Amino acid sequence: MGRIIAIASQKGGVGKTTTAVNLAAAWAERQRRVLLIDLDPQANATASLGLSLDGLSTTYDVLLGTASLREAAVPVGVAGGRANAAGSGADGAAHFDLVPSSMDLAGATIELVELTDRDRRLADRLAAVHTAYDYALIDCPPALGLLTINALAAADTLLVPIQCEYLALEGLTEVLRTLQSVHERLNPELRAVHLVLTMYDLRTNLSRQVSAEVQRHFPRELLQTVIPRTVRLGEAPSYGQSVLAYDPTGRAAAAYRALGAELEEAFTDAAT
Ligand SMILES: Nc1ncnc2c1ncn2[C@@H]1O[C@H](COP(=O)(O)OP(=O)(O)OP(=O)(O)O)[C@@H](O)[C@H]1O
Ligand SMILES: [Mg+2]
Repeated sequence: MGRIIAIASQKGGVGKTTTAVNLAAAWAERQRRVLLIDLDPQANATASLGLSLDGLSTTYDVLLGTASLREAAVPVGVAGGRANAAGSGADGAAHFDLVPSSMDLAGATIELVELTDRDRRLADRLAAVHTAYDYALIDCPPALGLLTINALAAADTLLVPIQCEYLALEGLTEVLRTLQSVHERLNPELRAVHLVLTMYDLRTNLSRQVSAEVQRHFPRELLQTVIPRTVRLGEAPSYGQSVLAYDPTGRAAAAYRALGAELEEAFTDAAT
């Protein structure tokens, strides 16, 4: 496995799923082998890529141990929907797999709580497929509970989307504290944390203020790429497509391609 990236924040609606889906698509477009794991019972990433669940194994099955990640991973294209079994979509994406989620996952927390390895279920499953992908992205629910802990226990990188809104930084301390605790207790490999501004609106002072504030407090963590606010990002999921397929020449697609490139550069720099 190249890198495992958890996309997490306990704040709802900040762009976690949008970032997970489109960053995954951007890397797939660059011929990287990508695994997107939907770890949210809301299953927004699954729906965003136009997948219907009939007969599919889900993250719930993976966590409970009734399916392996390999069994649960479904090939999707950058365009969304189910790609052919060879794993190569008509759009030429090298390898873009999704492990879908479902409502069942909400109950998994209760079922897992008895197990001594409950924090490391996902990490252990991911270890078994580690050579098959360049990147695994994990879309977390808006809470710092057992599911997000599982993501952080598996990840080497935490990516936190920051919505350019009033009180944008509120709650970030808790995310970083959780990161620290997982790093110490469960996963010494979890090292890098990156912040990305989402829903940035050039026309508003608020976006500029949020950007300046994050820059001041987290100059090293803040990525330069900014995801603009655009209706295209809201529309694409209803077509079951990433924005790279839905509006390939638009600003959002460009931003997610830039985000993919910037993160890849950060990974390379960190490795040397
Ligand atoms: N850059 C953007 N511009 C415009 N709309 C956006 C942008 N990013 C996300 N959205 C929209 O904002 C809403 C919330 O985004 P998203 O679902 O990605 O957030 P989330 O953090 O995953 O939410 P949750 O916490 O519920 O999982 C969605 O309707 C999405 O389409
Ligand atoms: Mg989400």
